[in-house]
Amino acid sequence: MSYPYQILSEEQYKEVYQFSIEKPEEFWASVAKHFTWKKKWEKVLEWNFKDPDVKWFKGAKLNITENCLDRWALTQPNTPAIIWESNDPEEHHRVLTYQELLFKVSQFANVLKNNGVKKGDRVCIYMPMVPELAIAVLACARVGAVHSVIFGGFSAQSIADRMRDARCEVVITADGAFRGNKEVPLKNVIDDALLQSPDVRRVIVLTRNRTPVSMIKGRDVWWEDEIRKVETMGNPFFPAEEMDAEDMLFILYTSGSTGKPKGVVHTCAGYMVFANYSFVNVFQYKPGDVYFCTADIGWITGHSYIVYGPLSAGATTLMFEGIPTWPDAGRFWDIVDKFRVNILYTAPTAIRSLMGFGDSYVADKDLSSLKVLGSVGEPINEEAWHWFHKNIGKEKCPIVDTWWQTETGGIMISNLAGITPAKPAHATLPLPGIQPVLVDENGNRIEGSDAASGILPADIISGNLCIQFPWPGIIRTTYGDHERCRQTYFSAYEDKYFTGDGCFRDTDGNYRITGRVDDVLNVSGHRIGTAEVENAINMHTDVVESAVVGYPHDIKGQGIYGFVVYSGSNSDLNLVRQDINQTVSRLIGPIAKLDKIQFVSGLPKTRSGKIMRRILRKIAEGELENFGDISTLLDPDVVKQIAEARV
Ligand code: WTA
Repeated sequence: MSYPYQILSEEQYKEVYQFSIEKPEEFWASVAKHFTWKKKWEKVLEWNFKDPDVKWFKGAKLNITENCLDRWALTQPNTPAIIWESNDPEEHHRVLTYQELLFKVSQFANVLKNNGVKKGDRVCIYMPMVPELAIAVLACARVGAVHSVIFGGFSAQSIADRMRDARCEVVITADGAFRGNKEVPLKNVIDDALLQSPDVRRVIVLTRNRTPVSMIKGRDVWWEDEIRKVETMGNPFFPAEEMDAEDMLFILYTSGSTGKPKGVVHTCAGYMVFANYSFVNVFQYKPGDVYFCTADIGWITGHSYIVYGPLSAGATTLMFEGIPTWPDAGRFWDIVDKFRVNILYTAPTAIRSLMGFGDSYVADKDLSSLKVLGSVGEPINEEAWHWFHKNIGKEKCPIVDTWWQTETGGIMISNLAGITPAKPAHATLPLPGIQPVLVDENGNRIEGSDAASGILPADIISGNLCIQFPWPGIIRTTYGDHERCRQTYFSAYEDKYFTGDGCFRDTDGNYRITGRVDDVLNVSGHRIGTAEVENAINMHTDVVESAVVGYPHDIKGQGIYGFVVYSGSNSDLNLVRQDINQTVSRLIGPIAKLDKIQFVSGLPKTRSGKIMRRILRKIAEGELENFGDISTLLDPDVVKQIAEARV
């Protein structure tokens, strides 16, 4: 097995990149022809960014699971598809070969069918990081149902909102999950969510920690019982449903600058081709490599680079149930050592946190199997980059700094491991087929060093990052609200997809993403909208209003700082802070808890009532003077008061 479209030299990268922008359709067709299609496409691409309306591989029919499972089960049945490491280092790990994974996905696809799940139905998945999560995802894809995976750190309220928005009728969950030395009662959380989700008619519950759960007759069934029923059927093979290239594959909710998370929609063919192409090229995966991505399948990184990218490439993907710091801060390195991991893909927040525990947790681990390291989720600071490079990669492993988003489906800007040069803290160059542009606030294109095209002015330039041409993994719509998709991504700048990120570009065409320019925070690599958090805080009985901003945090990248106008009578303000965080935790989930809460008498507002976040951001960052022109404020004095009382 090899990948005819794997780029093997820097020269080749330049050639392929050039070809990909000159003839994008031909380029992507030359990649796509290596996949399994039930019917070939009639047209490679049809698009406009006005509506937006983007169709890749129009008219083609396929099922992504035939590409992830059947073709490999035929040619390499005994190759491990998934290696699973339990939260508990004492529990035996599991290996599922391609043949076994196909069998299990077929079985569970039959379970879904027996439970009335049909093509196009939306299925909510809220599960621990066990192989059955990947099996559930793939089984949905096999029957043509649309999965909406929700990360285990979201609260019942968040789940209910998402299930309602997607109109899910079926939920797949587990009794509970192990996380370090804690247990999370997943089914209980789902039960709370179901109080507000009358449409749900079936809940399939996997046994994981066998904690007591309430099982309601006619609605709740055990995963294992359903599998037993399928076993009595004889041959469980489930023929993959024929899907149109542009049929929905999944919905994944993500935060934006408004209070309501949006359901990013990806479709079958383009997403598959892009996840696979980017996986093979960025990580330079070679047959036999063991690849370990530490993300959770509840996020896009897990979708694209634990499940669909690696499996569609016939790779061996390692799934880890636990957390990096349990039983101790050497857990990742134990796993690398135990399974001879070759490629490790993780997040800057994890690197910074493990770095903080010191080198002793790395010292006695054999990390010699590592060839490639990867980073995703936020800008990686130079200190973390160098620690990762030296202590984990032993200065011999290229680090790929991969920039992308839930909406892009796969990696957009990154060096290719060992092929194109790395530059600390830079995502570097766009992948073939990706056409980034920088624009100023007025939408004027900032000319300068166009990646790989060679005209190089002297300085670094800075602007808002847009993409000016479609790629196969691009978001197609936001579920149930296409106008919102247009507004959010395609209206700021004409004929361009706007990423929401600010960015530098150097004279060699290297991109350095500096962070969000909208009201979205990036906390430990998790996207959280400030409006969402504010809505939650404002739900607290005695809160009049609030404003939330990000501030630099050593481990999390960004911490959440809240300015809160409180009208209650409780003089124990620390208790009030805890109450507020409890409210946020209930409404969104523990991941959105505030790091700092400052009680203020009022917020700096313009005469038209707009909160001046710029000023609050400065205060949160510790900049306590030089606020610029504040004369337009309704009450300029409030700024001084807030600055003096900073926590
Ligand atoms: C940020 C995660 C700098 C960025 C795959 C983006 C990054 C947001 C990087 C998307 C990187 C992700 N360097 N910033 N290598 N990777 N980001 O949707 O702000 O959870 O817009 O997707 O994370 O977050 P999301």
